Amino acid sequence: MKFQYLFILMALSGAININAQREVQTLKHGWEFSHGNVFDAPNIQQVRIPHDWAIYGPFDRKHDLQIVAVEQNGETEATEKTGRTGGLPFIGKGIYRTVFEIPDTINRSVTIVFDGVMSNAEVTLNGKKVISWPYGYNSFYVNVDGIVLPGENRLEVACENKEGQSRWYPGAGLYRNVHVISTDKVHIPTWGTFVTTPVVTKEYASVSLSMEVAGTYNRQNINITTVILNPEGKEVAKKSNVFCARGQEFTQNFLVNHPILWSPDNPALYTAKTILSVDGKVVDEYDTSFGIRSLAYVPQKGFFLNGVPTKFKGVCNHHDLGPLGAAVNKSALRHQLELLKDMGVNAIRTSHNMPAPELVELCDEMGLMMMIEPFDDWGFRPKSPNGYGAVFDEWAEKDVSNMIRHFRNNPSVVMWSIGNEVPSQWGEPGIGELLRLRNTVRKLDTTRPITCGMDQVGEGAVIDNGFAAALDIPGFNYKPQFYDKFYEKLPNGLILGSETASTVSSRGQYFFPVEFKDHNVVLHPENQSNSYDNESCSWSNTPDFDFARDDDNDWCIGQFVWTGFDYLGEPSPYDTDAWPSHSSVFGIIDLASLPKDRYYLYRSKWNEDSPTLHILPHWNWKGREGGVTPVFVYTSYPKAELFINGISQGIREKNDSTVYNRYRLMWMDTKYEPGELKVVTYDKNGKLAEEKTIRTAGKPHHLVATPHRKILAANGEDLCYITIQVADKDGNIIPTDNRRVKFKVEGAGSFEATANGDPTSLLPFQKPEMDLFSGAATAIVRSADKEGIITFTASANGVKPVTTTIQVE
Ligand code: GAL
Repeated sequence: MKFQYLFILMALSGAININAQREVQTLKHGWEFSHGNVFDAPNIQQVRIPHDWAIYGPFDRKHDLQIVAVEQNGETEATEKTGRTGGLPFIGKGIYRTVFEIPDTINRSVTIVFDGVMSNAEVTLNGKKVISWPYGYNSFYVNVDGIVLPGENRLEVACENKEGQSRWYPGAGLYRNVHVISTDKVHIPTWGTFVTTPVVTKEYASVSLSMEVAGTYNRQNINITTVILNPEGKEVAKKSNVFCARGQEFTQNFLVNHPILWSPDNPALYTAKTILSVDGKVVDEYDTSFGIRSLAYVPQKGFFLNGVPTKFKGVCNHHDLGPLGAAVNKSALRHQLELLKDMGVNAIRTSHNMPAPELVELCDEMGLMMMIEPFDDWGFRPKSPNGYGAVFDEWAEKDVSNMIRHFRNNPSVVMWSIGNEVPSQWGEPGIGELLRLRNTVRKLDTTRPITCGMDQVGEGAVIDNGFAAALDIPGFNYKPQFYDKFYEKLPNGLILGSETASTVSSRGQYFFPVEFKDHNVVLHPENQSNSYDNESCSWSNTPDFDFARDDDNDWCIGQFVWTGFDYLGEPSPYDTDAWPSHSSVFGIIDLASLPKDRYYLYRSKWNEDSPTLHILPHWNWKGREGGVTPVFVYTSYPKAELFINGISQGIREKNDSTVYNRYRLMWMDTKYEPGELKVVTYDKNGKLAEEKTIRTAGKPHHLVATPHRKILAANGEDLCYITIQVADKDGNIIPTDNRRVKFKVEGAGSFEATANGDPTSLLPFQKPEMDLFSGAATAIVRSADKEGIITFTASANGVKPVTTTIQVE
């Protein structure tokens, strides 16, 4: 559901139009923050929300030193683990306060909505405790009628992160937005509508809108009018009814002719605009954004979106935004999704927690399907001793209900997952927990199937004990080699790769000799992993195996790769006393939002609209002259010839001899000599298609800055990601330069953060300087809330600086 309000985004003390029926203030400014549970005068900071108190560091191995056996990785003995949660100081207490204004409370109803507080939130308004909410990832709200005052109101939020609460970096504090919503007493409450589209054909669709109406006691003559607006904003259906459903939901049904169907290629959004009036006077106006689309999960045949066979080309992501931490920023999320869409991704799994509402809105608007997944732990034998397991029994229904009510109108959401690799898959308690969650979901939404990420497939576990069969879609993590067996044994008729690959690689780092090492841990110097995409962990595999499953079996409905982006924490295979490793190497895109080679392997397979041609490794190997240096080409073309300094190294064509040869073109015996690598590709008819050349770069000469966009919105929140590299005098990028670069930002914006994608880097994200890693780093610049020009300069010793400008309007 997307809110569109009459009066939106009021700053803290901006004027509020008291004639407005519905007023929303998103409280971003004017907050004070202090570590601890009281406001400690000398240490009070003025902060902007969303805010993540822990991302400012410093990194330190002591922050998350743990002695544990990671059972889901097959470990039986406890060892010293470092960097598992990012090496950042997120554990402890923090407290926030602000003041907001409510002009009038007579005949008004006021609700405060928290998109997410990390974690164990305790909310106080005007000195009275109004709500507490333990789970840091969920949105919650509280009606504050009777406590809210006309004029100034003092809001205070205390939170606490506990030791052992997470397996990754969770962030800390008010990391998502806070909204104050004031309405007439008669109003549609928070998440109070539910749209479904029971019949969808090309010719017509039926649309059903159920709603709750609050404040109707003792009120007569309530009228409800809803108009359905198509994606261009044109009215296509309308209903006007006398409200006659006190204490129950009220439903209006519509017919939409020739609907424009929502899909990743055409994310068409409709709006149901509902107007409540009492005695002819409008008292509330509530917009529900929705899409018209059909989902069919057909046994043996697969998943059909609007009748079209569709595979999930998905990625899993954690919620952190790399150097921005967990503090949500819509512009950063949009940048992530743009990169993923260009790779050909059509779906996101929000592993393993409820997403920020901004992410769901973007998926609706940009066309990405979603599997929303609330939990990494249930109550029985949780993986994180102080994590969700500690509150599951009391909170599971409340958390799941909020999640479903919040996101059940979003067309992007096509499946609910109820958990990830919960240890109780083995036994009775797990089935009980599963049924509890399944029933809670089904009470609120029967239009989407339920899955769960499972990994316990041995004797007596999910295949035998009824766990997998109790799901609509059995989801398996890292088990492509067993899918046939599961498919045969299970009654469901479909299999999903709920989590796949976990291939490990560090951007631009190559190690020799190059051998495929699926299901094996390979360690290299400096705690890096091989960018030839030939290595995984003991439980995981290279992408090729999952591609083959998707290609060969209709009943395999696709996959969600672990992960789209690198994240803070879980530096496997460097998690055992391997400090300073503290961020993942599973990502297809690194922590600095720079694509690794693997990006192009997926793109070659998944982006069916534009061809891919990518060569690896780089060709700057001083000291390796004459050494065997394999060349891989990730391309959508079936065939190519490789030349080194004009000499053919032979033609390669994709073939079924090995699973790797099916998806990659590989020259395993080529020897390095400086100069030129050229690839000439041929299409499926054998016709010359596209060529690409990379060259050995010369001496470092100047810096290059490449902003991902040239125009930002003057809203104080828009971001530009600028890639910094070093080039030789002819402009060839030097992929091995690791010098330190300093940044300066002037004009209508400010420096926000920087990163280089090195999972061992301990440099702070907020200082305007960074070492290049494999020849590149990213600087992130934030727009001001006024128009103008941002001038960005990068400088470094020994090379010419670079300046670039970005327009803010
Ligand atoms: C899975 C788990 C993920 C992540 C991944 C790393 O077992 O579900 O959260 O830990 O392994 O490969």
